[in-house]
Amino acid sequence: MNWIKTLNSPDLLLDACSINKDQASYQVFNPYTNKALCSVANLSVEQIKHSISAAQTAQPEWAKKSATERAERLMSWFDKVIAAKDDLAKIMTLEQGKPLQESAGEVEYGASFIKWFAEEGKRTYGKHIPAPKNGQQIVTIKQPVGVAAAITPWNFPIAMITRKAAPALAAGCAFIARPASQTPLSALAIAELAYQAGIPKSLFQVVTSDDAKAIGKLFTSHPSIKKISFTGSTQVGQQLMAQAAEQMQKVSLELGGNAPFVVFDDADLDAAVKGAIACKFRNAGQTCICANRFYVHDNIYEAFVQKFIDQVAELTIGDGSQEKVDIGPLINEQALDAAEEKVNTAVKHGAKLKLGGQRDTDHPQCFAATVLTEVAHDNPIMTDEIFAPIAPICRFNDPDEIIDWCNDTQYGLASYFYSRDINKIWKVAQALEYGMVGINEGLISNPVAPFGGVKHSGIGREGGSEGIEEYLETKYLCFGGLG
Ligand code: SIN
Repeated sequence: MNWIKTLNSPDLLLDACSINKDQASYQVFNPYTNKALCSVANLSVEQIKHSISAAQTAQPEWAKKSATERAERLMSWFDKVIAAKDDLAKIMTLEQGKPLQESAGEVEYGASFIKWFAEEGKRTYGKHIPAPKNGQQIVTIKQPVGVAAAITPWNFPIAMITRKAAPALAAGCAFIARPASQTPLSALAIAELAYQAGIPKSLFQVVTSDDAKAIGKLFTSHPSIKKISFTGSTQVGQQLMAQAAEQMQKVSLELGGNAPFVVFDDADLDAAVKGAIACKFRNAGQTCICANRFYVHDNIYEAFVQKFIDQVAELTIGDGSQEKVDIGPLINEQALDAAEEKVNTAVKHGAKLKLGGQRDTDHPQCFAATVLTEVAHDNPIMTDEIFAPIAPICRFNDPDEIIDWCNDTQYGLASYFYSRDINKIWKVAQALEYGMVGINEGLISNPVAPFGGVKHSGIGREGGSEGIEEYLETKYLCFGGLG
């Protein structure tokens, strides 16, 4: 708890982490040191039912406010998040592990959704439709769905909340988020800033619990919840979607990925290597849209691999709260074991281990930046979501076959390729069965674009003008008997 007092604004967390003795709680750990940081409330299903009723009561009044007034509150929230960037980054690094500069980047990225949707909330236009007969006028209006609930992941503890909360609030919904049990502190701090910005406490709630299953069941079975948004694994997303069918809830799901990263032989090699490193090693590889498998054309394979290995070897591994660290710890022991297992299996199937391959000796909670070469397309590491700093590189020859290889997966979240041939670029971009395609670009996340996947990678879009639609219903009004 003492570290909270060292924040510029300890009030971001003091209340949330001062647990009443009658309240059940659970501990939050620093994944680098494995030491407890503090405890947060472990709310029961009954307690969260009260939160849902309070949200339902608060929502109509919020919906009645003008879009401009809601936008002003959101902009004030944005300003407060930016002003608290250093504290928020510190909290995030402590509970999640990502390097401080990446955490600061995520605070800005998370805040950008608040600003974007503050504006988009003013543009939830309906339309006038030419009527099929005289005496009628037809218009559509947009209305908030009501109470929306979200279950958010540990890998982006702020951005995955604001990407859902900001459009919900801008649309006039109430919003309840259950953050991952590993990273509740960033969520609680960001909610505190929302309250300081005048967003009512019962309207926007962060409910902490270590029982993900029970909360998923509650959210999807509660008749007051009209919308559920989830970021996480495909398996859990499928379960939530099946459960949500009972109450006919609107659903958006951002699920697993298996992003291919293709380098054609006409690519700018230096740009491709730079993009590959940024894309693969962001958040220690624990990102749904990280490059999962690399395909490099035979003509440039050796050159790419050499440049890539030289630069990956320069990445600094360690405690994210220290200066100049590029790769922090993995989230927990299970993740470290899984990474080790994936490398061993890949090598058994013929991959050559060129760099890393195990826990870092000086920083045992970190996994060494790892490069595997001569990986076959059907090697198991090319089919599973890796979620660790491991880059498997496969050789290819046939520019048509490579599209089949990219699409040879149940996933369809992000994909990337590098080429300078405009005909090839257009053809490949159209053929890739993915919700997002980075072309000569390894970092594609921003608030203005619709983020989301196809196939088993999800349903719905977050960000862009599409993101707010997920929290709105379209109502059609037919005016008859007009002169
Ligand atoms: C994710 O990993 O789910 C989100 C990554 C991003 O928004 O860039």
